[in-house]
Amino acid sequence: MKKNRWDDHHARRAREEKWLARSVYKLQEIDKKFRLIRKGDRLLDLGCYPGSWSQYGIKMVGPQGEVVGIDLTRTDRLSFPNFRFIKGDVLSLDLDRLVREVGPRDAVISDMAPQTTGIKLMDESRSMSLAKRAAEIALVILKKKGHFVCKVFEGEDLNPFRTEISAHFRQMRLFRPKAVRKGSREVYLVGLEFVK
Ligand SMILES: C[S@@+](CC[C@H](N)C(=O)[O-])C[C@H]1O[C@@H](n2cnc3c(N)ncnc32)[C@H](O)[C@@H]1O
Repeated sequence: MKKNRWDDHHARRAREEKWLARSVYKLQEIDKKFRLIRKGDRLLDLGCYPGSWSQYGIKMVGPQGEVVGIDLTRTDRLSFPNFRFIKGDVLSLDLDRLVREVGPRDAVISDMAPQTTGIKLMDESRSMSLAKRAAEIALVILKKKGHFVCKVFEGEDLNPFRTEISAHFRQMRLFRPKAVRKGSREVYLVGLEFVK
């Protein structure tokens, strides 16, 4: 029988454990390593569809915490009283309104990714635009000492971007979780303890 290249160990495990996507294991690994999410936290999840990062966030923050997820595509499989979904394009949403409606956050997590074209430079540049926007949002919405996680594709713009946002965090790390698929150029920037 022909093997589906997307149906790997993590995808099967995610189905068994009832996570909405295999990406959950990337966030879980990042969280275990850097201890980002705590009970009672208020999270903002950028590019949340289909919802496994928000699902993990909801579990970790508990009933006293809250998760707001934003995506171009509606996710209707997360119905929890402490989850709110906003349908929209992160690149064009009004930042002042977001701050007013969503308020200060303990962590901003972004797994946003563009539709890949296979054209390396174009994919890198679109991914970088999403990452820069995620950072822009984090800088206006994070509480002091809040954390930031953001997916980026490896490329020549990565180091300058990392240097630029490093100044706003006590520590900035680049991390590639084991659950990232072989051959993928995605990595995660992790900013610890936002310095206002
Ligand atoms: C890899 S998926 C996220 C998976 C998610 N973290 C999970 O665990 O289920 C990337 C998401 O980024 C979203 N995205 C890409 N560009 C976006 C934009 N400009 N505004 C909002 N969401 C965007 C896509 O719609 C897609 O759902």
